[in-house]
Amino acid sequence: MQIQKVGVLGAGLMGHGIAQVASQSGYEVVLREVDDGRLEKGMERIDKQLARAVEKGKVEQADADAVKGRIQRTTEYSDLADCDLVIEAITEDLALKLAMWREVDGVVKPEAIFATNTSSLAVIDQAAVTSRPDRFLGLHYFNPAQVMKLVEVVRAVTTSEETFQAGVEFAKANGKLGIPTKDKAGFIVNRLLVPYMLDAIRALEEGVGSISEIDEAMKAGAGHPMGPLTLADFVGLDTMGAICEVMYEEFAERRFAQPPTLRKMLGAGWYGKKSGKGFYDYSGEAPVENSAL
Ligand code: CAA
Repeated sequence: MQIQKVGVLGAGLMGHGIAQVASQSGYEVVLREVDDGRLEKGMERIDKQLARAVEKGKVEQADADAVKGRIQRTTEYSDLADCDLVIEAITEDLALKLAMWREVDGVVKPEAIFATNTSSLAVIDQAAVTSRPDRFLGLHYFNPAQVMKLVEVVRAVTTSEETFQAGVEFAKANGKLGIPTKDKAGFIVNRLLVPYMLDAIRALEEGVGSISEIDEAMKAGAGHPMGPLTLADFVGLDTMGAICEVMYEEFAERRFAQPPTLRKMLGAGWYGKKSGKGFYDYSGEAPVENSAL
């Protein structure tokens, strides 16, 4: 099926980026959030990113306006009715996702493809609550979606070859590298990246280095663009906590378990950069180490 109109559920950290990339690639986009406040916050992020690109001379103002113009905003599922592809990027909570899919499945045309941007939940569990498990797959983007090249294209046991190929083609048309992965918790990247970030937290707990020493060491010693604790803050500690829970349940291995420091930080509501505090405090000009840790 020819994909022309794309629905994006959720305008948060991932959703706004997915919507922007799809619009930049020429698709009509319908961006849905639960309320106007969240919708506007997502659009502000897109505005900011486009303004920066215009300022740097990478995008013409007219093109930036066209990108925004192609994104229809809504709080109603019914506005997604004629989308050819619907990608969800809501909170990493299975119950919420299932409730959402049940509603969306009832209003979106039957031939449309559904995709989840889940980081760790089984794609099949979401596919199974819809009337189209053959037209359901995972399209896992990375943060920031505007910049990171990869989209993991996840084939659930029910995903048809046609749907899978449509996912690969869609990733390509968005200028991304689509890499096929099996429907196994964490897919490829989080299976390797999450234990790495958790080990950095354990290294901090054991006093191997301070927060910034661990980060700087991995940047200077392994060539990573961000250290693991900065990256954890960037991904969102709440998201990371949810991923850990799913992966620990799936594999029952210590490497996926939440270290006590992470559990305490989640208890305190320190979700990383988006909440203003995580391993670093973001309230000032530049991030400083969170002195309470
Ligand atoms: N949103 C959109 N674009 C952004 C951005 C953001 N939050 N941050 C930076 N950019 C863009 C900039 O506009 C700039 O674009 P141009 O090259 O077109 O000018 C480009 O990225 C580089 O930005 P900067 O020069 O400001 O900063 P940088 O060179 O330090 O790069 C970074 C920033 C791209 C985020 C880099 O630090 C990086 O690659 N970090 C690692 C990110 C990563 O590992 N992401 C995966 C997380 S895991 C995940 O997402 C999966 C999951 O399920 C949890």
